[in-house]
Amino acid sequence: MTLFDVVFSGADTVYGLAEGAIDAAIAQHGADKAVAFPKTAYFLPCYYAVTGTKVTNLGELKEALGVVKSIETKNAKLNDVFMNGVGTALCAEFIEALKYLDGADPYEGTGCSGHLGDATIRELGVPLVTGDIPGVAVILGKAPTADEAAALVKSYQAQGILVTLVGDVIDQCVEKGVNMGANVRVIPLGKDVTSVLHVVSVAVRAALIFGNVEPGDAAGLMKYTFERVPAFVNALGALNPVVVACGAGAIALGFPVVTDDVATSEAVNIKVPKSLIVQPDISKFNATSLEARDIKIKITNIDIPVAFASAFEGEIVRKKQMQVEFDGSRVDCFELVQTKEASEIEDHKIELIGPDFDSFEKGSKQSIAYIVEVAGKGMQSDFESVFERKFHSYLNCIEGVMHTGQRDMIRVRISDAAYDAGFRAKHIGEVLYAKIKNDFDAVVDKCQVKVITDPELVTKLRHELAIPAFDKRDDRLKSLTDESVDVYYSCIMCQAFSPSHVCVVTPERLGLCGAVSWLDAKATNELEPTGPCQVITKERPIDERIGEYEDVNEAVKKFSNGALEDVSLYSIMEKPMTSCGCFECICGIEPFSNGVIIANREYAGMTPLGMTFADLASMTGGGVQTPGFMGHGKHFIASKKFMKAEGGIERIVWMPKDLKESVAERLNATAKELYGIDNFTDMIGDETIAEDPETLLEFLTEKGHPALGMEPMM
Ligand code: SF4
Ligand code: NI
Ligand code: NI
Repeated sequence: MTLFDVVFSGADTVYGLAEGAIDAAIAQHGADKAVAFPKTAYFLPCYYAVTGTKVTNLGELKEALGVVKSIETKNAKLNDVFMNGVGTALCAEFIEALKYLDGADPYEGTGCSGHLGDATIRELGVPLVTGDIPGVAVILGKAPTADEAAALVKSYQAQGILVTLVGDVIDQCVEKGVNMGANVRVIPLGKDVTSVLHVVSVAVRAALIFGNVEPGDAAGLMKYTFERVPAFVNALGALNPVVVACGAGAIALGFPVVTDDVATSEAVNIKVPKSLIVQPDISKFNATSLEARDIKIKITNIDIPVAFASAFEGEIVRKKQMQVEFDGSRVDCFELVQTKEASEIEDHKIELIGPDFDSFEKGSKQSIAYIVEVAGKGMQSDFESVFERKFHSYLNCIEGVMHTGQRDMIRVRISDAAYDAGFRAKHIGEVLYAKIKNDFDAVVDKCQVKVITDPELVTKLRHELAIPAFDKRDDRLKSLTDESVDVYYSCIMCQAFSPSHVCVVTPERLGLCGAVSWLDAKATNELEPTGPCQVITKERPIDERIGEYEDVNEAVKKFSNGALEDVSLYSIMEKPMTSCGCFECICGIEPFSNGVIIANREYAGMTPLGMTFADLASMTGGGVQTPGFMGHGKHFIASKKFMKAEGGIERIVWMPKDLKESVAERLNATAKELYGIDNFTDMIGDETIAEDPETLLEFLTEKGHPALGMEPMM
């Protein structure tokens, strides 16, 4: 058998399965029955991306199958191999979509994820562009032993690589107790080989969401996934025709396939250089794959007895698994960065003042403070808060340590497992030292850490040192307005995925991902002068009302490589800022009330516009301007510059309840200051009040919401 025979036969098998499933579904439900994946605005995303056609019911699905037949040509050409691979992925998508008929939740209780929603993809945007997630591994099949399977998965996990699993390898990982779940970046997709489609769907939607690839532009799609989605496939065990056909699809998208099946590979004897790689030794899969996809791993060597990797950032340490908890809501705790003179610091000195973890009763709540003292010629006090905010991620990356909060409202849990492995107080210092020196080496020459567990000393320092330092910083932040600074910053970090997108970051408008404030951008510029954040002057205003400047326009034009001509800072209607796709929130016009509604990424329900977050989000992205819809950070909601051109925050008529509660304090303060309104959030609807425009309007009328009296926006 040749590779052609194998791929064609695999493609035919999957096609036959899809055809049978579709026909059976039509016989049972009729051709008008709706077909859709949940939580996506892209229909059957792969089919939509490849053909530009929206499949919404069984009849259309049957037609789509006919289209697949026409692309699965069977000539002995490499292109036919790829097209049969793509066709196989599409048929897999049809089969998987049918599992979701009638709003079914087919993966519930299986321990597998199945389809992943658009919000998950948007969440992955920032870690992928920063290299925090350096790649995506797709592991399918069965390793010779469960030990080898677990070791392979853990090797990727330790590098921060997002791992998706398909087939028997999932049971092998369960058997070995591998820590799995989206929060630790190991996602079992499903046991059937067709479930591999769910990760293909993620890559394809990345092209639609971030890349502004037009649905139907199959060539553009494949170029995008090849150049910008750092995924690869590890096929474990004997290759059957269906797996080979799936592999051909992966290769068509630019994802190399590594296999340990020497016999089949030799039998079919067709080489696809750099794309189909035979590696009989599973322990070398990791290195072989990274080399094939050209993925570089950033290594920080930290001297601690447990693993340290970004994959552990979302790990949860539950009450019954914890050795000790430091809880700033009950006892005094804080974390602080302080700038010192070089002479005051002994580099890499880690000092513990107070008892170590061994002295604490298991499960008890204790006080802790850690003070990171830094010195360096380029160090500025403005960077202290930038460093300090990274502590959350640093400590969470430690396996078995969970950190929440910031400043003097922190909570740190140490798990039994980490404690048993020998993790002690000084290791917190080691991690903070290593990461600060590694991430901020351009401005930090020397660094030392004090870890304090003596409760009286923590209390004293909290009140005498930390709180005054935080107050001083808050005063500085309050004084930072768009008017009070001389420059803004560009951020083009997301161009890795969204090639023409530029964020303009100002003191009162942070990046839409929520992760880059003006101070962050300033620090990034200082650390990496030719990096993603560049200074933008603001000396030549064109229109103060919408926040348009000649200098900003020039910068945006340059950094978008000519894709964008002009941009306003304060308007959602006129020349609005573009979105890459990883925004925390999106706002959109609500015409009946003259207002806007806001939905955050976490909100899965319906909005009064008749659209979910995913639907709204699909209206903008890919670095194009879309008046009426705007992606933005959560923090921006309470800003005096939020839609200032259209009248500001007074336009907000609806938000999901959780979001409303989380911004209430700041939003109410802004409303009071700008318009003299008390408790403004009481006038704003949420999903418990209204999910349709009529009910919302009634509510707003009853509350006398100010938007009702404003000019229509369009
Ligand atoms: Fe991406 Fe903008 Fe955030 Fe920069 S500020 S990481 S470009 S979303
Ligand atoms: Ni106190
Ligand atoms: Ni982005």
